[in-house]
Amino acid sequence: MLTFVLSLPFLIGLLVVATLGVVKAYLLMMRGVCRSTNNLTDKTVIITGANTGIGKETAIDLAKRGARVILACRDTKKALAAKDDIVRESGNDHVIVRHLDLASLWSVRQFASEILKNEPRLDILINNAGCVTMEKKLTPDGLEYQMQANHFGHFLLTNLLLELLKKSALSRIINVSSCLYTWKRTLDLNNLNSELSYNNSSLYHGVYYNSKLVQVLCTRHLAPLISQSGVTVNSVCPGLVNTEIFRSTSSWFQMAASFVLFIFSKTAKEGAQTSIHVAVASEISDVTGQFFCDCRIIKTSKLADNPNLAKKVWEISETCVDLKPEERNY
Ligand SMILES: NC(=O)c1ccc[n+]([C@@H]2O[C@H](COP(=O)([O-])OP(=O)(O)OC[C@H]3O[C@@H](n4cnc5c(N)ncnc54)[C@H](OP(=O)(O)O)[C@@H]3O)[C@@H](O)[C@H]2O)c1
Ligand SMILES: *[C@@H]1O[C@H](CO)[C@@H](O)[C@H](O)[C@H]1NC(C)=O
Ligand SMILES: *[C@@H]1O[C@H](CO)[C@@H](O)[C@H](O)[C@H]1NC(C)=O
Ligand SMILES: *[C@@H]1O[C@H](CO)[C@@H](O)[C@H](O)[C@H]1NC(C)=O
Ligand SMILES: *[C@@H]1O[C@H](CO)[C@@H](O)[C@H](O)[C@H]1NC(C)=O
Repeated sequence: MLTFVLSLPFLIGLLVVATLGVVKAYLLMMRGVCRSTNNLTDKTVIITGANTGIGKETAIDLAKRGARVILACRDTKKALAAKDDIVRESGNDHVIVRHLDLASLWSVRQFASEILKNEPRLDILINNAGCVTMEKKLTPDGLEYQMQANHFGHFLLTNLLLELLKKSALSRIINVSSCLYTWKRTLDLNNLNSELSYNNSSLYHGVYYNSKLVQVLCTRHLAPLISQSGVTVNSVCPGLVNTEIFRSTSSWFQMAASFVLFIFSKTAKEGAQTSIHVAVASEISDVTGQFFCDCRIIKTSKLADNPNLAKKVWEISETCVDLKPEERNY
């Protein structure tokens, strides 16, 4: 018995378990929680990708605060099921499902025009939807799929809804990005759409990071342009969260991911805390252009903090989504 306890494999095992325990305890301690109890009665919120994961938990919380919550989802059946859960858990039946496929610019324009026609106000826009996929495909708009679902679709949506957000000021835009954007050390402006990476696997794996970096840059660019109008825009990182996000990746990737997630991840409810905090907390009502993680502002990478780069990325994005002069509301 004693020889077993002193054996090397056992001691190594013990060390690994103890280390994981310490890391987990540290993560639990650092995890941010939204402490605001602000009431959102008479406020309208749009959350993209709200039928599952972080978006759904964000919707439940904001519905509990009395908001009118619009679930902007591409899968209406899944969204209606989510709506029933959200109504039941929040006791608020002002929850509406509207169809939005971010991978189609037509769908984004359609969605926005329905909103502008039917909603007298919009107080909070949460650009939450996102996907990780290793499939290489272009959308019907000729843009790279992941770039459009994560960035270009939201870029157009934000521009189209800006007019209504301004009218409803003070209002807030929240971009759900990811700390993983910091893995991008350079940004190739000639390949912002990432399509040129298709034939280069070492570049292709960077498309998700690319999309998340570009979100942070656009947030940085827009913030000062609209600060006078009482609309704030911030990006957040939810942390590592156990959701369906890896569903479109290869099975070996999913296996590796589920192991890491099992040990280190937050629940979707924990992962939603930073989005909720930035959407409702009073003390940050005039904070704009920042990046939040665990409910705290953190410094962005050098690349993401470059105003000239941000401006160029913004202009290229305008061209990619074919933004019309009358759709420009900043
Ligand atoms: N989980 C993490 O560890 C983590 C870490 C950092 C950042 N994030 C970010 O957090 C956000 C939420 O992710 P999650 O973890 O909650 O993932 P999730 O469970 O996979 O939920 C993603 C949501 O986005 C929607 N979506 C995807 N593509 C769409 C499209 N083309 N049009 C409309 N909706 C679309 C999905 O709708 P369907 O159900 O129809 O597919 C789903 O509702 C994402 O932006 C993600 O990048 C997550
Ligand atoms: C929010 O305020 C309204 C009245 O202003 C009240 O009726 C409602 O119960 C409050 N909701 C919550 C969740 O505190
Ligand atoms: C983030 O915010 C900017 C506006 O500052 C918007 O144009 C951009 O598309 C948003 N990105 C996403 C996907 O959240
Ligand atoms: C990638 O390579 C294929 C065949 O080798 C070619 O047809 C395609 O045009 C290339 N795509 C890009 C974006 O360069
Ligand atoms: C792929 O991209 C990397 C990084 O830019 C580059 O070093 C490499 O030469 C490229 N490979 C091919 C086959 O183009």
